[in-house]
Amino acid sequence: MDDQPQLKWTAEEATRIVRESYGAVVPHGLGVAESLYTPDEIAGLPESATAYALGLGNPIRYADLRPGEIVLDIGSGAGIDTFIAARKVTPTGRVIGLDMTAEMLERARANQKMLGLTNVEFREGKMEKIPLADASVDVIISNGVINLSADKPLAFQEFFRVLKPGGRLVFSDSVVNGQLPRTVLDSEAAFAG
Ligand SMILES: C[S@@+](CC[C@H](N)C(=O)[O-])C[C@H]1O[C@@H](n2cnc3c(N)ncnc32)[C@H](O)[C@@H]1O
Repeated sequence: MDDQPQLKWTAEEATRIVRESYGAVVPHGLGVAESLYTPDEIAGLPESATAYALGLGNPIRYADLRPGEIVLDIGSGAGIDTFIAARKVTPTGRVIGLDMTAEMLERARANQKMLGLTNVEFREGKMEKIPLADASVDVIISNGVINLSADKPLAFQEFFRVLKPGGRLVFSDSVVNGQLPRTVLDSEAAFAG
């Protein structure tokens, strides 16, 4: 990560760009959810969660979540992975969805209420400054979010701070193989998309 290209924005500006972009997201049908998850995984989830799926993969498929575990979903959006994880850890476990965009948190909390899940909590915060104690979670999952950080080394430092020793980090994300052209690097839409 040392050879990360320099962004033209400050970290604060990058945060504003991402927040505005995800604050304005509208539901986009079930195509993303149906391509990433099995019918069983999304059964019973409201369309206000599934039609807001914005992930790039299915980290839960590889996370081997067990009853009783404490899971942190970084960049939880409208909550789709948080809810699937909550079923896997059962009411003896707990899932914390972390997001920095007020509109997303509002959607996620409304969805949680609809589902009646008591082992889920959505928190406002940034992955670069996670509002949790050291060594407090068993598993971190994240889906399509880390690429949005303007300071990825700091984000990973935070992940390893809050994970318990022997904890797991499982994420799906986009990677760049090679250098992006400056026109793409300088595009707000490409950065936040
Ligand atoms: C591409 S969406 C993915 C949402 C969700 N994981 C899913 O699969 O549907 C990215 C989410 O990450 C949140 N996000 C972006 N940067 C963040 C940061 N630095 N800290 C916390 N959340 C962030 C956005 O607000 C948005 O809800």
